[in-house]
Amino acid sequence: MDLDAAIRTRRTHKAYGPDPVPRAVLEELFELARWAPNHFLTEPWRFRVLGPETVAQLAAAGGPGELEKLRRAPTLVVATVKLNGDPYTEAEDRLAAASAVQNLLLAAHARGLASYWRTPKLLREQPGREAVGMEADEELVGLIHLGTPVSEPAAKERKPVSEIALFLP
Ligand SMILES: Cc1cc2nc3c(=O)[nH]c(=O)nc-3n(C[C@H](O)[C@H](O)[C@H](O)COP(=O)(O)O)c2cc1C
Repeated sequence: MDLDAAIRTRRTHKAYGPDPVPRAVLEELFELARWAPNHFLTEPWRFRVLGPETVAQLAAAGGPGELEKLRRAPTLVVATVKLNGDPYTEAEDRLAAASAVQNLLLAAHARGLASYWRTPKLLREQPGREAVGMEADEELVGLIHLGTPVSEPAAKERKPVSEIALFLP
């Protein structure tokens, strides 16, 4: 798949087949994620692949129905950004970490995998953060769902380029 096609055809998937993504494939995705642009070369992105015990702990930290939501995908990755206390660097590092996640989603899609970038409130609150071992200087970027696709979600329309881009004199 060429890059333009990968960018255009990636979709948010909310249903998956049962097979987890093999560790070797996840390692490829993380290896590609880390090539994101990064102003201060802080490499602030962190990825945690959740095993079954951690998923159970995270579900227990949430409300009723959380486990069912977490089980929608066979592979869950918590993506975080490490923040260093300097507001300017932090702002830039959040952008870099989001870019790394987009790399990961595109690389997953190019491998035929389905994905979903979710930001549950649970992972911004202390019990959820603790369940996945987030440190005090880490902030959630996304709970990335990964697995095999079982549907072809429709594209959500985007504004035309004429509405979003200005060519200044
Ligand atoms: C930072 C971020 C957080 C998101 N969090 C959620 C979420 O919590 N729940 C959700 O349904 N979708 C979430 N999404 C996915 C968007 O809803 C989705 O990308 C959008 O509807 C466009 O669909 P597409 O990805 O198929 O193009 C998130 C996307 C981003 C970039």
